[in-house]
Amino acid sequence: MGATRETVAGLTERHRLRARLDAAVAGLAPAPPTPCAVVDLDAFDANATDLVRRAGGTPIRVASKSLRVPALLARVLARDGFAGVLGYTLAEALWLHETGVSDDVVVAYPTVDRASLAALTASPGAAAAVTLMVDDVAHLDVVDSVRSSLAVPVRVALDVDAALAAPGGVRVGPRRSPLRSVADVVALAEAVLARPGFRLVGVMTYEGQVAGVPDDVPGQRARMGVVRRIKSASVPQLVERRAAVAAALDDLVELEFWNAGGSGSVETSAADPVVTEVAAGSGLLVPGLFDHYRSFVPRPAAYVGVPVTRRPDARTATVHGGGYVASGPVGVDRLPLPWAPPGLELTSLEAAGEVQTPLVGPGVDVLRVGDLVWFRHAKSGELFEHTDRVHLLSGRAIGETVATYRGAGRSFG
Ligand SMILES: Cc1ncc(COP(=O)(O)O)c(C=O)c1O
Repeated sequence: MGATRETVAGLTERHRLRARLDAAVAGLAPAPPTPCAVVDLDAFDANATDLVRRAGGTPIRVASKSLRVPALLARVLARDGFAGVLGYTLAEALWLHETGVSDDVVVAYPTVDRASLAALTASPGAAAAVTLMVDDVAHLDVVDSVRSSLAVPVRVALDVDAALAAPGGVRVGPRRSPLRSVADVVALAEAVLARPGFRLVGVMTYEGQVAGVPDDVPGQRARMGVVRRIKSASVPQLVERRAAVAAALDDLVELEFWNAGGSGSVETSAADPVVTEVAAGSGLLVPGLFDHYRSFVPRPAAYVGVPVTRRPDARTATVHGGGYVASGPVGVDRLPLPWAPPGLELTSLEAAGEVQTPLVGPGVDVLRVGDLVWFRHAKSGELFEHTDRVHLLSGRAIGETVATYRGAGRSFG
């Protein structure tokens, strides 16, 4: 189930990877618990360099949901070309600020978390570091309902829909913001500007239909043709829409930033003159769902090792764990990929199991009880909701072991 056709060079690479990961983990004392997550820093850093190249001088705001490891956020933020965090909850943003990871966090999704809003509006320091995303006056009302004074201004950005407007009123893209027309955006901008205690500082236009959809999946020619047409229609349409919205907002407010894009769209998002920063996260760890984009060469950087605990028969090796299934539309592409050694497949009957996962395929022959099988997750940061630590591999050795959000006792949903 879900076997990837692989070149000889690719297979050799995966055998080498297995040897490298096994040896690095074997060098740890005491032996690490499983599941055992490893990030290959050489690949991670090379991916960061490539993202910066693709952005062509436009700063990259790192999408924290796609990492969920403070040390990795700090590592990438220390590099030239990266600036600020695109967070996924307000509680997370407050924590990243409090712990010194970043003093510039844009929360990419609207929040109604009253406890965190109360904390934000009580802290001038946090309020200066964190920007909330809004697309509705209701989001402003929630802030006002929890704060005790207007003394601390709340920074807000407008999330403007960036879906493709196709013929027949069909919209292709994430269903998020209701702000579609220039008039919609101007009306909310005016509402923010008229309301005491808020500062309108930015705009975000996330074109998920370009940034987050693979367009080079082998064996899916017809589908890829449709995806490519959607992408190539979206980009010029968005340039026009952004320009129109920007021109209208120019008369009202001086913005600090205009965020766009994601790992799959870095170059087209950065090329839009209105855009001042691009977002990217998944392109750093390159999970399974990011293996097939025309816009970049995948360099996987995150692995999770689980042990073979039983051999039900000569054709099957069963590992403990493995059920790290990704969010999104249910499908085989959401399953973890048994990656090293190569030649392993999930079974259609059990797939990735809650406690155990049987594996079949020619790769089984080399597996003994106690061996590790290295999986890749389909999505980027979600893997780290399953482990409390990550081993950071430099060259052939683990240099450091760091906490995930979960390991730091934080889970932001
Ligand atoms: C608002 C927003 N920006 C950017 C991204 C891109 O993140 P990544 O680069 O991890 O795909 C996402 C992903 O869903 C997103 O929701």
